[in-house]
Formats: sequence, structure tokens, C-alpha cells
Amino acid sequence: MNNQEVILCERLATELEQAIARCPNDRLFVLTDEHTHRLCLPLLQGVGALKGAGEIVIGAEDAHKNLATLASVWKALSDGGATRHSLLLNLGGGMVTDLGGFAAATFKRGIAYVNLPTTLLAMVDAAVGGKTGINFNGLKNEIGAFAPAAAVLIATDFLRTLDRRNFLSGYAEMLKHGLISTAEHWAELLAFDMDNVDYERLRHMVGRSVQVKQNIVREDPLERGIRKALNLGHTVGHAFESLALAQGRPVLHGYAVAWGMVCELYLSVLQAGFPSERMRQTVRFVRDHYGSFSFDCTEYDRLYALMTHDKKNTAGVINFTLLKDVGRIALDQTAGREAIFEALDFFRETMG
Ligand code: GLY
Repeated sequence: MNNQEVILCERLATELEQAIARCPNDRLFVLTDEHTHRLCLPLLQGVGALKGAGEIVIGAEDAHKNLATLASVWKALSDGGATRHSLLLNLGGGMVTDLGGFAAATFKRGIAYVNLPTTLLAMVDAAVGGKTGINFNGLKNEIGAFAPAAAVLIATDFLRTLDRRNFLSGYAEMLKHGLISTAEHWAELLAFDMDNVDYERLRHMVGRSVQVKQNIVREDPLERGIRKALNLGHTVGHAFESLALAQGRPVLHGYAVAWGMVCELYLSVLQAGFPSERMRQTVRFVRDHYGSFSFDCTEYDRLYALMTHDKKNTAGVINFTLLKDVGRIALDQTAGREAIFEALDFFRETMG
């Protein structure tokens, strides 16, 4: 997999012009969802390279991250005369960058694409690292490909208008990057004033967060080893997310990951020697900003079953990424049913 250029933008219009110029193309297409088409695309009207670009607009939200939407993008590219030398610019959150990336990876066996993420979650996670795909057969990201964008432009000005819940959802992935990198980065994330956001400081922290992910992806693009570190919080988090969805009370991905990290840090203390005071500091931050997720002990079996079906598992053994300390990663760990139930007890007692 090629290295992916990630640009922390200062002057988006210029940097976007330059990124497009570095990808010679016979036709440019811009993919947006109905929200980013209305709210974000107009902010790029001064960008000369976008003049005359083909516009493709899809429905917003995860419900549209499916084969029908993907086919509509392929069709729009085909009807719009796209060739193998055309370029796709994905402007949106993770749903647009995932689906657009997969459309680009598969159209005429692959055309180049550039990601311009508009949410914090997409900036620090989805748009970076070359994972593309769609949901299929009721399963999230079931079909996809590793296909890096030619460039990812991180323009944190978009975050000024992001609602608080989506801001927090992305911030959970930043917190994860803090936990798997250095005590200094983790501490600055916990100390950040979430109620009076200093956007200049945030810009630097986002840059640092993206760097954490990029370094890992560079080392292990296909998730054979160290990239699994990025799964911290996701084994329990995905179970919470699936349970909430099945019960008709969906939660944002980052919230589920934040809650999942509470349980997985508890397992890290129990099984990997993670310092309990650092766990408590992190748990306090999650409780104060994300609130709690309600479930009772009658749902433990269902949560456990959801964990056993996680696609990160091998031969039915639940796979966790745990930590020995901040930045000291223990890959391919497992935990028994008893320890997992204990972590769920801990969650309810501490967060409830
Ligand atoms: N979202 C985790 C990864 O990109 O590997």
C-alpha cells in the first residue's frame, strides 16, 4: 500500500488546489452527502480546480452506506464520463470517505481519490489509513478494500460548526490515540477544556492524533499486527453499539468506543498491569463527558455473544487490544467470560 499524504491545512483553498494538481486527472468528481453538499461545498467555491467538476450527492448517515448508494456513485461516474484517469474528491464524514474510497477503489479497477473529511471522527480516523467499504447483509463495513487516498486534507475549521455530540464522538478516537501513544499526549487530551474549545490548540492536537494513526498504518497497513492497537475500546464498544442499535436507541460510534475503553482499561488493569490510577482518570473523563450507557445484568450474555461475533476474532476467541500502560500495547489478548462480566459490573458501578 502506498504512503498516504496527510496535510494539516492552514489555507484550505490553496492546499486543496495543490493536492489536486499533484493528481493529474482528466475529470474531477466531487462526492458529498446531502448535508455536506449544502453546508461544506459552498465553502470551496473559490477553489479553481473544482470549477466544472462533476457533482455526486448521496444520502447522509450510515443507513445509506450500502450497495445501492455505491451503485449510484459508480453510475454517476460512468454517466459522467469518468475514466481510469479521473479523480474523486470525497467531502464529508466517515460514511462519505469510506463509501467514496471504495467506489474509487473499484471503479474501472481503481481511480485516485482525495479525502477532505468534515467531521472530527473522519479527520482522526475514518479518512486516514486506507480502509474503505460499505455495510452489507446487516453487518457494518462487511465489504471493502484497503485503498489509500492519494491525499487527506485535514481542515479543522470545519469543526467550528460541528455539533457537540459529533465532536465528542471523534474525540473518543483521539483519546484512544493518546492511550496508545504517550503519557504526554494522553494527559493533554484529558486536560483539554471541552466547554471552551481553543480551536488553535485543537488543530495541533488533531495533527498529533493523525500522526499517531499514520505512524501505525505506515508500519502495518493491512492490520496484521500493530494496527490492531487502533482497536482499543472497539471489542466492547462494538457490542454496546450493536446492542443499542438492536434496541432502537442507536449511539454514536465514538460514544460506544469511549464506553468500550472503560471496560477494556479495566481488563487492562486486571490482566496486563495497567496502572489503576490512570484508568480512573480516564474513566472519570469518559463519565463526565459521555455520560453512561444503560444495560443490566440480564444483557451480559447478549453483549458477550456480540463480542464473540466480532470480525477481529480468530476461531471464536474474543480478541482484545489491552494496555500494560499508556503507550505500552498488548496485542491479541483474550479474556474469559468471568473477566468480561466483571468489567461490565465495573462499568455499571462506576459509570451508572
Ligand atoms: N479504525 C481503525 C483502523 O483504521 O484501523
